[in-house]
Amino acid sequence: MKNSPPKTSTPSIRPLSAQDLDKIEPWLNASSTFREYGITLETLRPAILAAMIDPANELLAADTETAFDEKFFSGFAWCVKKGGFGRSAYLRLIVVAPGAYSSGVGSALMAELERRHCLSDRLKGPGLFLLCTHTNTGAQNFYAKLGYARVGEIPSYLRPGLNEVIYWKP
Ligand SMILES: CC(C)(COP(=O)(O)OP(=O)(O)OC[C@H]1O[C@@H](n2cnc3c(N)ncnc32)[C@H](O)[C@@H]1OP(=O)(O)O)[C@@H](O)C(=O)NCCC(=O)NCCS
Repeated sequence: MKNSPPKTSTPSIRPLSAQDLDKIEPWLNASSTFREYGITLETLRPAILAAMIDPANELLAADTETAFDEKFFSGFAWCVKKGGFGRSAYLRLIVVAPGAYSSGVGSALMAELERRHCLSDRLKGPGLFLLCTHTNTGAQNFYAKLGYARVGEIPSYLRPGLNEVIYWKP
């Protein structure tokens, strides 16, 4: 990542590329939730590469513009178009580069997914679901700020003792 300060302009969104994946290992390592679940680039890369060629998935990348008009890759999201009960979209993963936290990258990725799937913008689809581990309070604040409703909780779904909170935006 460049050291120059990010601009306040909204990050731009484009499709994720295979080359982008070379940059995300430190992003995954920075998240205690991903460490807890053993999510590493080694396990994730084959799944993302397979998803890139499967039209059931959407893989988005965000680029942040610096004060010197350079762009750097700063976050990505993986969405399964009908992954929510075969009807709604399901956000499988969202990760922002730690150096770009709180600069609107996550919000820009979510806004693009909502533009595609949520009723609030266009009469297009029946909303977006996601799961968030109950210990990941930072991400929970993020989803609440974006207007996601906490609609349930699944106890010990992926790991014993770790509950998954279900969020939904219609
Ligand atoms: C959660 C995550 C995607 C948020 O992305 P981001 O680009 O930092 O979020 P934004 O800058 O768009 O934040 C928008 C709002 O969400 C809230 N928010 C975001 N991260 C927050 C945090 N860690 N703690 C509290 N509130 C947070 C803030 O209210 C923020 O608004 P503000 O900047 O006006 O205060 C990012 O922190 C991340 O990648 N975390 C590690 C991976 C992860 O936990 N992914 C989610 C798995 S379910």
